Amino acid sequence: MYLNQNHSSKFTRALAFSMSFILINLLFMSCTSNQTMSSDPIESRVDSLLSLMTLDEKIGQMLQKNGADGHDDKIREGQIGSILNTVDVEAINRLQKIAVEESRLGIPIIFARDVIHGFNTILPIPLGQAATWNPELIQSGTGMSAIEARSSGIRWTFAPMIDVTRDPRWGRIAESFGEDPFLTSTLGAAAVKGYQGNSLDDKNSIAACAKHFAAYGAAEAGRDYHTVAVPENDLRDIYLPSFKAAVGADVATLMTAFNEINGIPASGNELLTKQILRNEWDYKGMVVSDWSSIQQLVVHGYAEDNRDAALKAINARVDMEMASTCYEENIKDLLEKGEISLELIDESVRNILRLKFKMGLFENPYTNPNDYPKVLNEEHLKVAKQAAAESLVLLKNDKQVLPLSKDISSVAVIGPLADQAHDQLGTWTFDGNKENSITPLQSIRTFLGDAKVNFAPGLEISRTMNRKGFEEAIKAAKKSEVIVLFLGEESILSGESHCRADITLPGIQTKLIEALAETGKPIIAVVMAGRPLTFEPESKYFDALIYAWHPGTMAGPAISDILFGVESPSGKLPVTFPRTVGQIPVYYSQKNSGKPAADNTWERMDDIPHEAFQLSIGNTNHYLDYGFKPWFPFGYGLSYSTFEYSGIAIDANTFSLGDSLTFSATIKNTGEFAGKEVVQLYIRDLVGSRTRPVKELKGFQKIFLKPGDSRKVSFKIHTNQLGFHNQEMKYVTEPGAFKAGIGGNSEVDMSLGFSITKD
Ligand code: BGC
Repeated sequence: MYLNQNHSSKFTRALAFSMSFILINLLFMSCTSNQTMSSDPIESRVDSLLSLMTLDEKIGQMLQKNGADGHDDKIREGQIGSILNTVDVEAINRLQKIAVEESRLGIPIIFARDVIHGFNTILPIPLGQAATWNPELIQSGTGMSAIEARSSGIRWTFAPMIDVTRDPRWGRIAESFGEDPFLTSTLGAAAVKGYQGNSLDDKNSIAACAKHFAAYGAAEAGRDYHTVAVPENDLRDIYLPSFKAAVGADVATLMTAFNEINGIPASGNELLTKQILRNEWDYKGMVVSDWSSIQQLVVHGYAEDNRDAALKAINARVDMEMASTCYEENIKDLLEKGEISLELIDESVRNILRLKFKMGLFENPYTNPNDYPKVLNEEHLKVAKQAAAESLVLLKNDKQVLPLSKDISSVAVIGPLADQAHDQLGTWTFDGNKENSITPLQSIRTFLGDAKVNFAPGLEISRTMNRKGFEEAIKAAKKSEVIVLFLGEESILSGESHCRADITLPGIQTKLIEALAETGKPIIAVVMAGRPLTFEPESKYFDALIYAWHPGTMAGPAISDILFGVESPSGKLPVTFPRTVGQIPVYYSQKNSGKPAADNTWERMDDIPHEAFQLSIGNTNHYLDYGFKPWFPFGYGLSYSTFEYSGIAIDANTFSLGDSLTFSATIKNTGEFAGKEVVQLYIRDLVGSRTRPVKELKGFQKIFLKPGDSRKVSFKIHTNQLGFHNQEMKYVTEPGAFKAGIGGNSEVDMSLGFSITKD
């Protein structure tokens, strides 16, 4: 039996339940006969239930509490709307039973959890998933996570995080889909669809939460929770489109952010959650605060005290308060003193109840784990493996040392991340367990047989400063044909509040690389990290380089398949890789400036004569020491094969506003391996009433081609996809000249011209 029966007076509860059920139904019937009630069945149920609720019960719905303990009485009084961080299905069912059968109105609780990149089966970190550029795969991953979470009684996840970010110092870049609004929008919407399925009341669906609204990824200097200052136009063009896409994908909930934006903290920001979200986008879902972010309005210096914080958050239309108690303690008083209206409270409660009805929580409040397949099943592990394999980005393979032959005589597996079952899971893996991880070392041993694998980690963990393992690592290298070197950073070095100002390889990994290079053996580096790391100088020692992010439970089999050519790499960077931290922010869709750097403008600092005369003529926007280019551009990633682009074309030269434009190119696999290529379309608006980026991603398709095969790929774009927010904050597509390019990364030739006329 999955319900905890350990209670007294079952009879009394059953009676109370039947009474409240009858009462609700009677009222429902009487209210639905009332002409003023909504004709929408869910809205009618919301209205009738709302009309029965006391103020305390309404406020109760607006509260989200942490953990399973100590809430029984409050639940019985109908004063808790949601609980997070309880994953024990028996505890969940027990609390739900109190809510449904012992509270006056029997309103069920929504149990929530951060199911960020998998539940028990851990997928690659979201930044790794973004490197797949594969929305269908991401949707399968969130769909499978929903099923696993549901089997524990979870009905709501705080995911996807769709904060665009251009700062690898920020620890939460690991949780993001990278730097680009279009890529993040597409992948975010796919993630929402996977979690929610076809209908929120489906047995396999959990409610998603698009977070953090908004611009959390633009924290100054990449320091978490820090100040965000972005012009409203950029807010709307860069940081909000992913949220608008999530709303378009019917995301059930949104979470406000911790940060301030232009002086107004997000959890009390009327422009964001009232004006843009509710009024402009007509969002009917529920908005939850981040953890204590309403109380933090006081810490920000935006609210005088918790009461003022509650007032500001309610005015901004934040429906539910996570963790802190500003609503619980102050809503009544704010109402009594006439500082807020009951209509506002009712609106929030409506948003919460509507969600609960849509989720079918009233009909199916309990969870029977036997209704679900077992977690970590074969099918889920297969999705996790595929996501991990497609997340791997091949950054270098100059001498074609990869793929390795299956007949290789011996391999040295070295490095602090070769066999770290925990670290390969990455950040935010509350319900993942390292016992289920398959490490690269295990998989390489399985693939080649133990005898051919010489393992010596060299360094115990990524931050170790102790060289005691070097000798053994060098020995292992010397007796092997090739070195596979697993470098990077531990999972704890990225994620919330885990930012780094120096994003080089931690500890003495560089020393290990140098020591191994002296053996003269080829080095294949596999780097696991929660962010782009800067190690361009070290990379000269690598014959091949695979960027693996934190790949999750199935890191081992995925990496082994790529190393041995069972599958060709197909990942592409969702974020620009800087050469050095001082280049940040560096991203592909930058503005041109009045003095753009060009290939021939990089002047080496060391070449400048002492006391050289300084002119302003001929200057450009580059660094004396690092030029202007990143290490690897957005969208970049190699394959074992090669893809040739030809016939890049557009269906006309001139278009009118309102037209559709069709771009096309033919892609041929000219190599010897079957593989996938991500075909990318970039467009530039040459002149705008506000300056436009030098290019913007407007479409992508991931295609599979066998050697010798070719395919014509087309992108249909509407002229309204080429717009931006002008000075008057209106979204407009301005007629004029444009350039476009199609290719395998963002450094694409942008010579395809076209123009848009007024009519
Ligand atoms: C994070 C959110 C998360 C919440 C609940 C906060 O600290 O910013 O992303 O969903 O905690 O765990």
